[in-house]
Amino acid sequence: MLIFLVGFMGCGKSYLAKNLAADLNIDLIDMDKHIERATGQSISEIFTSKGEPWFREQEQLFINELFPKKHLIVSTGGGTPCFYNNMDLMNEKGITIYLNRSKEKAFAQLVKGKDKRPLIKDFSDEELSLFYDKKLAERQSFYEKANFWIGDREVDEIILLVKSLLL
Ligand code: S3P
Repeated sequence: MLIFLVGFMGCGKSYLAKNLAADLNIDLIDMDKHIERATGQSISEIFTSKGEPWFREQEQLFINELFPKKHLIVSTGGGTPCFYNNMDLMNEKGITIYLNRSKEKAFAQLVKGKDKRPLIKDFSDEELSLFYDKKLAERQSFYEKANFWIGDREVDEIILLVKSLLL
């Protein structure tokens, strides 16, 4: 079973994926880290040297090549569901879980981790807040195609919930 975690930057996909993978004893791939390892560059360097469209192609290639029978948790990038037919493909190949965390909770994370995220690294907090609202409004309909929505919950609670979904 492939389990895809989707949602906006700062919603906690990577953190949840690590905890889920350990608890369910399933392998985990963080797409951003996978692409960083494959290129030997950070996401910011990739955006600067190769451009965003190239990065989006790598995301699409990665999802295309995933074998549906594999047992794997995939932590996607915040934009992954919104390019090509990625969301449909992920729904075909496995189950998708949308971490629809509140802005309040996600925003603090984003402010802390701004530097490693090329789309937001140059924004002031006010600009980031405006960007958040605008971008989420654009992306929401893609995220909402996910099979399950999680909301604001503690990781332990989410793990129990995911386990119950998998029964
Ligand atoms: C992006 C989100 C990032 C990363 C890249 C682009 C986006 O992943 O893929 O910086 O378009 O929202 P995280 O959601 O893990 O920050």
